[in-house]
Amino acid sequence: MSDCRREIVTIDGPAGVGKSTISRRVASRLGFTYLDTGAMYRAVAWYLRKHGVDTGDESAIAAALGRIDLELLPAGGEDDDVGVVVNGEDISGEIRSPDISMLASSVSALAPVREKLTALQRQAGERGNIVAEGRDTGTVVFPAARHKFFLDASPAARAARRARQLRERGEAVDEEKLLEMTIKRDRQDSERAIAPLRKAADATLVDTTDLSADQVLELVVAKISG
Ligand code: DC
Repeated sequence: MSDCRREIVTIDGPAGVGKSTISRRVASRLGFTYLDTGAMYRAVAWYLRKHGVDTGDESAIAAALGRIDLELLPAGGEDDDVGVVVNGEDISGEIRSPDISMLASSVSALAPVREKLTALQRQAGERGNIVAEGRDTGTVVFPAARHKFFLDASPAARAARRARQLRERGEAVDEEKLLEMTIKRDRQDSERAIAPLRKAADATLVDTTDLSADQVLELVVAKISG
């Protein structure tokens, strides 16, 4: 367990707070692997939708989860998302849409989904030297991690950032709708019974509302190094 404490950094927080950017940069600075746990929930949501699995039917979910072989591809560059391959199919381009965001939030409340993905995440962590990013990486997945961070920012600031990201990718954006969805997703992620979005008691809280990505990065790296 002490090795685990040394080599794992967790970065949790609500949607659109800048976790991915910061986690990728911290990982690259430390030479660690970046584990995007949200991409895994997105992949499961994508699979369940594609195969029309009834998310109210626990045994159908369990059977579907048994059929999912999930692989994360490293991000191409520091500003790129990680890729995801499900059963040999590269679905990287399909999992970042607003509807998959909402669906991922819904299916992530299901116990069998969390069980499967938490186990896979811990497996990835066994190799150590990892920066894990998500909602429960500091509280549930890696409670013994040495370096834990919780990023937060106002919903309006987060929706504006997400809108800018989507626009940069050439996608049309309705910012008001995005804010509504951000608030709804936060509520779902925070109020679910299992592994809700929550700051670990021993995590460092960073309010990113008025900070640039560079400032957050320096703050996090300084805390890890200190
Ligand atoms: O970080 P993200 O936006 O890619 O995550 C998508 C959804 O997945 C998020 O709304 C809730 C869920 N999720 C989770 O429940 N636990 C995690 N560790 C990561 C993501």
